[in-house]
Amino acid sequence: MNSMNPSLSNENVQRDTAEPVPVDAREQPAESVIEYGKTVGTPFSDKPKFSLRDVEVYYGDSPAIKGISLDIAKNEVIAFIGPSGCGKSTFLRCLNRMNDSIDICRVKGQLELDGQDLYDPKRDVVELRARVGMVFQKPNPFPKSIYDNVAYGPRIHGLANRKSELDDIVENSLRKAGLWNEVKDRLDAPATGMSGGQQQRLCIARTIAVSPEVVLMDEPCSALDPIATARVEELIAELSESYTIIIVTHSMQQAARVSDRTAYFHLGHLVEVNETNKVFTTPEHELTESYITGRFG
Ligand SMILES: Nc1ncnc2c1ncn2[C@@H]1O[C@H](COP(=O)(O)OP(=O)(O)O)[C@@H](O)[C@H]1O
Ligand SMILES: [Mg+2]
Repeated sequence: MNSMNPSLSNENVQRDTAEPVPVDAREQPAESVIEYGKTVGTPFSDKPKFSLRDVEVYYGDSPAIKGISLDIAKNEVIAFIGPSGCGKSTFLRCLNRMNDSIDICRVKGQLELDGQDLYDPKRDVVELRARVGMVFQKPNPFPKSIYDNVAYGPRIHGLANRKSELDDIVENSLRKAGLWNEVKDRLDAPATGMSGGQQQRLCIARTIAVSPEVVLMDEPCSALDPIATARVEELIAELSESYTIIIVTHSMQQAARVSDRTAYFHLGHLVEVNETNKVFTTPEHELTESYITGRFG
């Protein structure tokens, strides 16, 4: 499944700025229009990679995710959108247990990856994070060479027995990340000397070097310029042939360009999940419509 939704012109998803919006209308609507635990649209799948039911996440006593049920299908690209603070990153981090490292964070509900409990205390979290890799908003290469950044994961997971095998993994990962031609003559150079866009593609190469099944991306382009953003979006389209990709984005245009389905979050609820084209042309829920037409955000 790999649709770039060419039918979607930018007009469909651009905020309507022609009419001045009254300031009050920019405030987020209250929760009263949301039914707890109920998501409109098509949140479930026949072939789930992730099956997530009644997920609640708390920071101390404050709820951040309020009864979300969702399936994420194998090899789909799903975009998470919604106003800042609505829980997109929190929900994303549940999927490879990155929330485990936040002391006050508690996750409840049934979360399964390929039918197996994600939160089984016996589960090896290091192995989980190799299967479900993550790319962050700000590129975060290690202060090492380009080669060593990509070789890092395969080394700690013992994926190569010989130097030549490691070389092959590094080359293939850099090729898949569309970076090989740009860096093949300077693999020993420090990664921190690369441009922001190259660093982000390096972080993607580092993630895919351990052959993950899923790649989580939390606003991967928000620190990049438009050209670097376009490169990363092309890359997402290519990677979607082999991986399940879950991308948080604050850009509705980006969601429209890269994803098969879009999930709209609001105040910790999952309000609507539908095919991306539908979300941006004929959303089912009034809150989704208000958000995509720019009435609040
Ligand atoms: N580490 C944390 N400690 C306490 N509260 C947090 C933490 N991270 C996020 N939150 C709270 O959880 C809610 C959801 O945040 P977040 O998942 O970051 O939203 P989004 O990614 O949609 O902007 C917000 O109210 C935020 O303040
Ligand atoms: Mg976030």
